Amino acid sequence: MASSMIISFALLACTLYLINGTSSTQLTPKFYSQSCPKVFEVVQSVVHAAVAKERRMGASLLRLHFHDCFVNEEETPKPPTFPPPTSSLNNLTTTFQAVGLSTNEMVALTGAHNIGKAQCINFRVRVYNESNIDPLFAVIRQSHCPPSTGSGDNNLAPLDVRTPARFDNLYYKNLIRQQGLLHSDQQLHSGGSTDSLMEQYGREPVSFKIDFAAAIVKMGDIRPLTGADGEIRRNCRVVNS
Ligand code: HEM
Repeated sequence: MASSMIISFALLACTLYLINGTSSTQLTPKFYSQSCPKVFEVVQSVVHAAVAKERRMGASLLRLHFHDCFVNEEETPKPPTFPPPTSSLNNLTTTFQAVGLSTNEMVALTGAHNIGKAQCINFRVRVYNESNIDPLFAVIRQSHCPPSTGSGDNNLAPLDVRTPARFDNLYYKNLIRQQGLLHSDQQLHSGGSTDSLMEQYGREPVSFKIDFAAAIVKMGDIRPLTGADGEIRRNCRVVNS
């Protein structure tokens, strides 16, 4: 599945999330069928143009969708990288369960880390201090992430070491080889209850894509605020004043 297709999907969910000014309590893909019948083509062409100009935009929009869907958990002036990349498997499971997503859905959704990048500040401890990491992979990532805090914090590395800009299932194969960049990602394959599903997705790309598509639609339906219950933020980091 091309990353642009995923992004169109994500944007669709975001678009529906932003619905305002209606008494409807359900999200529906037909919402704009009368007022803006070409909405999907318009959104798709704008997203294609943005990704063509800056390839990482696809990953950034996908991540934005995740944060939008967990937005009620994040009413702080500046959104943190919630849940944090230092999370344990138990923390991750609890966080997703709190919004109605199962552990299996969480495993499918984190496959989004097939594309995009992370900053050194978010993987420094893992590549220098953790033992469940492929040693060669750690050395490669250390080379662009200095050990001292404050030095090179914003340096970027791909979340998927093999195909960083293609939405495939290699993220899962990487984790089986202990080549996960984030501590939280490696937690999903560290001798715990999620190992077997990670291995299944590593073997079966089609089963991953089917489950990812279903889970991302479900994530887009988390507590939608429609009508007067919600608002379209002028600044997406804070509630309108
Ligand atoms: C399981 C819990 C998750 C944790 C702890 C987590 C954490 C992170 C962190 C720390 C980064 C790097 C940010 C940076 O350094 O700037 C990142 C990037 C990203 N995340 Fe997640 N994430 C999680 C789940 C998800 C989900 C469910 C999605 C989407 C369905 C997602 C999509 C992405 C994408 C696409 C990027 C790359 C963004 C870019 O390159 O601009 N993540 N995530």
